[in-house]
Amino acid sequence: MKKKLVVFTGAGISAESGLKTFRGSDGLWEGYNIEEVATPAGWKKDPALVLEFYNLRRKQCVEAQPNAAHLALVDFEALYDVKVITQNIDDLHERAGSRCVLHLHGEIRKAQSSLSPRFVYRMETDEIRMGDSCELGSQLRPHVVWFGEAVPNLEKAIDITAEADIFVVIGTSLQVYPAATLLQETNAGCKVYLLDPNADQISVPSHVVRIAKNAGEGVEELRVLLAE
Ligand SMILES: NC(=O)c1ccc[n+]([C@@H]2O[C@H](COP(=O)([O-])OP(=O)(O)OC[C@H]3O[C@@H](n4cnc5c(N)ncnc54)[C@H](O)[C@@H]3O)[C@@H](O)[C@H]2O)c1
Repeated sequence: MKKKLVVFTGAGISAESGLKTFRGSDGLWEGYNIEEVATPAGWKKDPALVLEFYNLRRKQCVEAQPNAAHLALVDFEALYDVKVITQNIDDLHERAGSRCVLHLHGEIRKAQSSLSPRFVYRMETDEIRMGDSCELGSQLRPHVVWFGEAVPNLEKAIDITAEADIFVVIGTSLQVYPAATLLQETNAGCKVYLLDPNADQISVPSHVVRIAKNAGEGVEELRVLLAE
């Protein structure tokens, strides 16, 4: 039976596809204040600004292409039972060909009702506009988990993590909770790797193997380490 390889990704894996991360940029995401565009309070205050922000992110995402790291994870499926848990709202893992992807923070190419997160729609166009409504008659919003909102897929992610033989963290500052606590859900025998150019500055337990490289180069080093 194939070993279970679980990969937990953050914004860093998509950096080489041209999608910016936001840590280390004074709390700004592409020049926008996170509080204003990624919180329920921001939505209440100025929904048009929030829609504009995500319409721009969606456009960037559609234009971006999966990079070498996304593609390498697909290659790993020949040898391992691979499951990807991502904090990213882009769809680059899916477009690379990964077969099992769980989004913790939503998906930019979907819209949801602002009345109930249970009403989710795959978008036909690239934009949500003021006045676009769900079947309940309320304004549509991006299908994204904002800071301060519940993470509906967290339980599933914990279950997947607990079963991992190998757990690989790629391109996340591990600053966003509760997703960052996933690492603690790995079982005692699980081999854990952290792949990030700033791996040496990220606080993780001592058994975690750090690969301080960009995602593209780092996955190649990981491939070698896993084969040993
Ligand atoms: N592409 C996206 O979907 C996207 C982009 C930005 C932010 N976000 C959202 O913002 C939150 C950000 O948290 P986060 O921890 O994922 O990101 P983060 O911005 O907090 O951290 C990014 C991490 O990626 C690392 N990094 C930078 N360049 C890299 C590269 N080339 N290869 C590998 N790693 C690299 C950085 O050192 C950093 O540790 C997430 O919840 C996510 O939903 C998503």
